[in-house]
Amino acid sequence: MDKGNKFYITTPIYYVNARPHIGHAYTTIVCDAVARRKRMLGYDTYFLTGTDEHGQKIERSATTAGTTPQKFADSVAAEFRALFEKMGISYNDFIRTTEPRHKQGAQELWKRLQEKGFIYKGTYTGQYCVHDEAYIDGAKPGDPCPDCGRITETVSEENYYFKLSAFADKLLKHYQQNPDFIRPETRRNEVIAFVKSGLRDLSVSRSTFKWGIPVPGDPKHVMYVWLDALSNYCTAVGLGSKDKEEQQKFDRYWPADVHMIGKEIIRFHAVYWPAFLMAAELPLPRAVIAHGWLLFEESKMSKSRGNIVRAESVIDVMGNDTLRYFLLREIAFGQDGSFSFDAVVQRYNSDLANDLGNLSSRTLTMINRYFGGSVPYPSPLVAKRDADDTIRDQAQRTIAEFNQLFDEYQFNRALESAWTLVASVNKYLVEQEPWIVSEKEGEENKARLATILYTAAEALRVVTALAYPVLPESAAKIWLQLGLGDITKFDLRELKWGQLPLGGKLGKVEPVFPRADKSTIERMQQMEQERKPAAAAQTSTATAPVPAGEGARPGQPATQAAHGPTEAAPAAKAAAPAAAAAPDGKISIDDFLKVEMRVGLVKHAEKVKGADKLLRLEVDIGSEVRQVVAGIAVAYEPEKLIGRKVVIVANLAPRKLRGLESNGMIVAASAGEDGKPVLASFLEDVPIGAKLK
Ligand code: MSP
Repeated sequence: MDKGNKFYITTPIYYVNARPHIGHAYTTIVCDAVARRKRMLGYDTYFLTGTDEHGQKIERSATTAGTTPQKFADSVAAEFRALFEKMGISYNDFIRTTEPRHKQGAQELWKRLQEKGFIYKGTYTGQYCVHDEAYIDGAKPGDPCPDCGRITETVSEENYYFKLSAFADKLLKHYQQNPDFIRPETRRNEVIAFVKSGLRDLSVSRSTFKWGIPVPGDPKHVMYVWLDALSNYCTAVGLGSKDKEEQQKFDRYWPADVHMIGKEIIRFHAVYWPAFLMAAELPLPRAVIAHGWLLFEESKMSKSRGNIVRAESVIDVMGNDTLRYFLLREIAFGQDGSFSFDAVVQRYNSDLANDLGNLSSRTLTMINRYFGGSVPYPSPLVAKRDADDTIRDQAQRTIAEFNQLFDEYQFNRALESAWTLVASVNKYLVEQEPWIVSEKEGEENKARLATILYTAAEALRVVTALAYPVLPESAAKIWLQLGLGDITKFDLRELKWGQLPLGGKLGKVEPVFPRADKSTIERMQQMEQERKPAAAAQTSTATAPVPAGEGARPGQPATQAAHGPTEAAPAAKAAAPAAAAAPDGKISIDDFLKVEMRVGLVKHAEKVKGADKLLRLEVDIGSEVRQVVAGIAVAYEPEKLIGRKVVIVANLAPRKLRGLESNGMIVAASAGEDGKPVLASFLEDVPIGAKLK
């Protein structure tokens, strides 16, 4: 079958142990922009996203939350879905790994691996990182996970193995023959080095917990969650289905053209996944593209670090397109990039409100004013000037450059190139002064005015068409204002200079990007503060979300200088104001509820070298095992603490003590004159992970 014009792109499927944040939104937005562009280029595009709902991590999170894994997964999966709807993500399918279609397909993949002789039974004894759901080769009990730094747990159980070791040479050959299979280059090199260092067989089932897809023919085991999860890329398009249409869908779309992922999961996608597919004799995806991390306050944005920002805080205040534009323009794709509210507002004001917003509203307002809203055409009455041709040539070059850069996933550079054109056209308008020409009498001046405004409007059309995948809502509005109808119907392959229809009627002209004023940052920070879980009860005091632009001054199209100083709000580094304590020093219940205290079980304890008072503890708090460094060595022998239940403050920001990261605080009374610590404890038996309130 000719698959020439199909394009199948996927996001990772997101774990449901954490609510969605901007990190998840980032990958999804990148895929959405690529998918929209491919559709505009005439590809039969299929865009898949979804949620990863099985495994020990989810099971534990559900237990901690006091619910069943299924209910827990239902509620978080619904949040992801609702967010993606709100963000206008154009996915074709949202798969959940708890759906029957997925379970059936994943089992089908298992059977194929087994039939081809790549699965055998064995016993695994070794270290496992529950957070990453990864086996850690070569680690000893108590060792941290090399990827996330959390303490690994010892697993000793009967399970099934996949003969990964049989695929090292085949994988290396595939990487060599398909240099674009892993991108960017740094990740490719990293994967090649990993495979060259030797591959061990991989345990692909677990038998000490239940939350997973049963292994066909041996339901005491559940499939290893990564084998389960990776297979979603095939099951979503019909693998294992008995339905004819689904089978055709699989033939049509598989293999995927792009698996877009964050760099931390490259090994699963570029080593394990292709090996599973080779073993099952299924075609391999064409590319695995790994992007960098979104950092907030200098470290990777993640739930466990407690430094997440929710997409809603930006989109409710500044709109979807602002977040999309910021992420794609500000971050060099493939590298890590920082997120901050003030950087978002600065980018918005300079590139959208000032540059594109100005170009659009001043050009269209003048066409309305001087030509009654009909697009003028360069008139042969007066000779064109070099400046006109310069814009035309630059626009033509920009189309080629933007296309190339975008298709190489260099989004920031593609946008930079389009905005260089915007800046040139704004400068052209300032130099050609159409507002002055309009005041002069005579046909020649009218003709000159027509040429200037046509040139500006045509350049605006070109930029709008190119920017649509990144700015779908705003580009659609500008397109309508240009009188061009529905932008999603435009065939991007046709884009070239000179297509603006002569005499075309403009739509209603309105500013698309009103300037953001100084309160915008605070509004976003406040929303973020109000959304933090512990503050959820505070809705009565919540400020209603303010729609994008409200309270901001719309641009003044015809008079505002295109390159005038931007009125970006000053950097507001301080976090949103914390609830102030009452004068008598009392705090509200809401403030108290912000502190998350949990019962933990000490699994390991030892003295910290060179520090008399400090102990390093590994504490199981139900959802995970935490490393905590506590100043209790004067009162407690480490060995006596193992197996003891303690109370830990679980939502403290991590800090380093003697070079060791401490993730939480042990609660203790300070007794006697010397303030000796006495650990908080319970008379009744309490489950691990139970919350104190
Ligand atoms: N469930 C696995 C993936 C299975 S795919 C078969 C998983 N889930 S996750 O919820 O942890 O999501 C990880 C992905 O979310 C990253 O690979 C990345 O795409 C995105 N991001 C999460 N946090 C991020 C940042 N701070 N920065 C950039 N992307 C981030 O891993």
